[in-house]
Amino acid sequence: MIRIPGSFGLLLMAVAAAAQQPGYIGAGGCASSNCHGATSAAPESESRILGNEYSIWSVTDKHSRASKVLDEPRSKRMAQILGITDARSDKRCTSCHAAGSPERSRSDGVACEACHGAAEKWLGPHTQKDSHAASVAAGLIDTKNLATRAKNCLECHLGSADRVVDHDLIAAGHPDLAFELDTFSWAQPIHHREPKPSAGNTLPRARNWAVGQAVAFAEGMRLLSTRASKSWPEFAELECYQCHHDLRAESWRIQRGYAGRRPGSLQVNQARVDLFRLLVAQASPGQAAAVNSAIQQVTSAVSTRFADGAGVAAAAASAARQADTVVTAMAGADFTSDKVRALVKALNDDIDRIAGSGPHSAEQATMALDALSAAYLGNKPEVQKAMAELYDYLEHPSTYQAGTFAALFRKVAARAN
Ligand code: HEC
Ligand code: HEC
Ligand code: HEC
Ligand code: HEC
Repeated sequence: MIRIPGSFGLLLMAVAAAAQQPGYIGAGGCASSNCHGATSAAPESESRILGNEYSIWSVTDKHSRASKVLDEPRSKRMAQILGITDARSDKRCTSCHAAGSPERSRSDGVACEACHGAAEKWLGPHTQKDSHAASVAAGLIDTKNLATRAKNCLECHLGSADRVVDHDLIAAGHPDLAFELDTFSWAQPIHHREPKPSAGNTLPRARNWAVGQAVAFAEGMRLLSTRASKSWPEFAELECYQCHHDLRAESWRIQRGYAGRRPGSLQVNQARVDLFRLLVAQASPGQAAAVNSAIQQVTSAVSTRFADGAGVAAAAASAARQADTVVTAMAGADFTSDKVRALVKALNDDIDRIAGSGPHSAEQATMALDALSAAYLGNKPEVQKAMAELYDYLEHPSTYQAGTFAALFRKVAARAN
């Protein structure tokens, strides 16, 4: 390798890198009626893909409106509080709300190429039969790989070093971010044909959930580690409602107690932890001891040595590495109906403890029940109606009562059997 010293060399390298970045085509480039812009889905016998992906995205998918929300009064207020001149053009907002388009069509919000990769180099080749691998080599994001898919969603639905929703944004009015791969994919809604059950992948949706949990934990720990080493404390990493709740003499938190920690000490957001721990115990028990010990290091660093950012960062980085091995295991795991029912039973058995971690864990438990029961039952209207009761209960997190939630959860879980 030739070394060019000094800033001139760095400049040359930056220019070369920019030249190599493939360009965006824009959603309009995918919208032709014989590509992805059909008005209705093609029958499976005629086409492997639906063909109406553009229509689904532009009509029902909130991503197509993601940059328009930056124009709303809520966003203006947020910008004012944060000292941002214009939310529509400031990177602190557009990094997630206007992505995957050339500059001139930023109003497309989160466009096709935000999830599928800049298309300049794969647009031509990808229309050929069996071209997936060649397109991936040319920059198509391999969304068929569940871990890659989940990581890409989490870039915006969790955030990263360059895409940031921290407590400053949240306190200015930004919604708090929560994510679960299967639930969010269906809510988007999906615009592909889900894989059919096959040998080694009996219930594909349960695998979506499992890989999504493992990736969310790993990426969550990576983000915690970055934040703890750079700007600590970051309140968005903690369980929100330990600070934000009504104070009551008969508080459920006091009744629950503070197992293994000082009363009133801070807790890392348990939603990242509770369901992941349950998944590993059930689906990959050989990894449970190492995972539990890594989690223990993080939670105890936060609750006993809170001011030690470097210590929190090191514990979180190590937990992330541990979780990467779980991601690999889950991506190849077979979730049979028996296994998934056992997972739901374990979730139900543990619901008092999980509910005691607070509303975020309760929300993850709800999405887990939703995704896992749909994996073996399909999308049944009567189960979805019962699920809606749980989601409704979680709409008012600062008056949340762990016992009330747990009782409701048991009732719904009994219906989703
Ligand atoms: C890390 C990525 C990220 C950044 C940065 C970001 N947002 Fe968001 N924003 C999201 C996501 C993801 C959602 C959807 C959350 C959900 O519903 O789960 C969202 C939702 C919103 C909503 C609510 C939209 C609705 O339909 O209810 C508004 C308003 C908003 N963002 C404005 C902003 C503004 C203004 C900024 C800059 C100050 C900003 N966002 C920065 C990711 C981001
Ligand atoms: C928020 C992320 C996201 C956006 C935005 C998005 N997609 Fe997708 N798309 C996915 C995911 C995830 C899949 C499922 C993975 C798969 O099957 O490859 C998918 C699947 C597809 C498929 C099926 C691929 C196959 O091989 O079965 C097509 C075609 C497609 N998308 C086209 C589009 C088009 C066109 C747009 C814009 C109009 C778009 N997508 C916008 C995430 C997205
Ligand atoms: C480039 C950033 C980005 C990526 C990548 C991304 N999203 Fe989003 N997503 C957003 C933003 C911003 C919003 C808020 C849009 C709005 O409400 O107007 C959003 C909203 C959503 C919503 C609606 C949430 C609600 O409250 O109604 C769902 C569901 C969703 N995304 C699923 C996904 C999934 C699944 C993936 C990955 C396959 C994904 N997203 C990838 C930025 C992104
Ligand atoms: C360590 C305690 C702490 C944690 C943890 C915390 N916050 Fe805050 N939050 C505060 C404080 C202090 C304020 C400022 C209140 C004020 O100025 O009146 C605030 C302000 C806010 C506000 C705006 C004012 C209000 O009360 O409505 C929102 C919204 C908010 N936080 C949401 C969250 C969310 C969501 C989380 C978790 C992701 C979170 N907070 C985590 C302490 C915390």
